[in-house]
Order: sequence, then structure tokens, then C-alpha cells
Amino acid sequence: MADSILEKMRRDWDERARENARYYVNTAREDWTDEEFFQSGERTVAEEISTDMINICQGKNPAEMKVLEIGCGAGRVTRALARQFGEVHAVDVSGEMIAQAKKALANQTNAHVYQNNGMDLSVIPGGQFDFAFSTIVFQHIPSRDVIHNYVKEVARLLKPGALFKFQVQGDNTLDTTADDTWLGVPFSDGQAVEMAEQCGFEPRHRHGAGQQYFWLWFFRK
Ligand SMILES: C[S@@+](CC[C@H](N)C(=O)[O-])C[C@H]1O[C@@H](n2cnc3c(N)ncnc32)[C@H](O)[C@@H]1O
Repeated sequence: MADSILEKMRRDWDERARENARYYVNTAREDWTDEEFFQSGERTVAEEISTDMINICQGKNPAEMKVLEIGCGAGRVTRALARQFGEVHAVDVSGEMIAQAKKALANQTNAHVYQNNGMDLSVIPGGQFDFAFSTIVFQHIPSRDVIHNYVKEVARLLKPGALFKFQVQGDNTLDTTADDTWLGVPFSDGQAVEMAEQCGFEPRHRHGAGQQYFWLWFFRK
């Protein structure tokens, strides 16, 4: 993996975090109050998690589940996840974002955030996870290899049968370049299926192919 793209992702996201972290995390507003920003995280969890507990929990008690999040940003979704699940561990390439996430999670002792290298999960202390989640992160990553590597890493940390639910860019008409850290590499439905097979997952459900919010339900084999 070229170090230069990892370095560029870290630098660009640190700059965005310094300029206006909450805006770059959720561009719906430039002037988020704490309350509105964290409510938007609760909304994401209500829409993508609470509606999908059968696939996510598979009969387990959420309070006993260990959850992994990739690209936690300023802790918006992490905080909402930690209010539902037993333990949450989250990574982000940007140290500036992680500093903001730590503040957002100061009262959430079951949430742990780590700055990582932008491509793997070696910073996560061992242990098997019950569920993994990522939203509006891979849509910004310009390298297919980096995304594949994350999916392999999640496979390494998830229990057999557990779900990795995540979103990728599905709009293939976008004009993306190899070093743009805002518009990431798009996936066709076929490319998503191929990635699942190469990384140890069954791509059981997919929704939104061809669109920005292309959601994938990958179950660990
Ligand atoms: C638009 S924000 C979304 C944050 C969070 N998922 C949310 O919904 O609130 C994208 C986040 O992905 C992080 N990110 C970008 N590329 C990454 C990479 N290669 N590895 C880990 N995190 C990355 C950025 O630092 C940023 O915090």
C-alpha cells in the first residue's frame, strides 16, 4: 500500500477537522450545536441499526455485544452506538477527529477510540466482535486496495456468522481520481460481491447499487 495516500488521507482529514470537523462529518449544517450534532448520530443509529436488529444481534442481547466502527470522525455515531451496545471500539485515520471523539465520549466509558494508520485494525486490542459498522467513510477513500484491506481486517476480528454492515460509494458515473480524499472509489454490485468473496464474507443483502449510499450486509463465513 502506498504510504503517500495514507499520509494524504490523514493530512486532509486533520485539516478538515481543524477547519470545521462537524461540517465535514455531516455537511447538512456548518454550525452544529452539540445537541443537534449528537441527535444526528442518534438518527443514523435509529435508521440503520434499530430497524435491523435481527441481522445485527441474531438473538444476542445488545448490552452484551462488542461492536467495531470504522471511521468514527467526531464520535457522532459512536456515542449513539455506545448507548445501545455493551462495548464499542472505533478507529479513525485523523488524530484531530479522534481528539474530538474523545471529548464527545467523555461520559461513555464503554466506548474506546483509536487513531489508526488509515488501512488496518492493528490498533484494536484482540478479541472477537459481534458486529461491525461504517457509514460515510469508504465513500471518501480513493483506493480500492485500502477498502479491501479494511474488509479483510474486519473479517479477522468478527465472530463467524456476525455482520459487517457498511456503506460504499455506488455511483460509477463520478469522475474520481486516485488521490482525492473526498470523492472515493465507487463499487458496482459485481465489485461488491467479488470483494465479499475475496475477504471471507457472504454478501447476503445489498441496497442502493448505482447510488451514493450503496449499503452492504456482509456476513462473516
Ligand atoms: C464524513 S466523516 C464520517 C464520520 C462518522 N462515520 C459519522 O458518520 O459521523 C468520514 C471520517 O472518515 C475518516 N476516514 C477517512 N479515511 C479514512 C481511512 N482511510 N481510515 C480511517 N478513517 C478514515 C475521516 O477522518 C472522517 O473522520
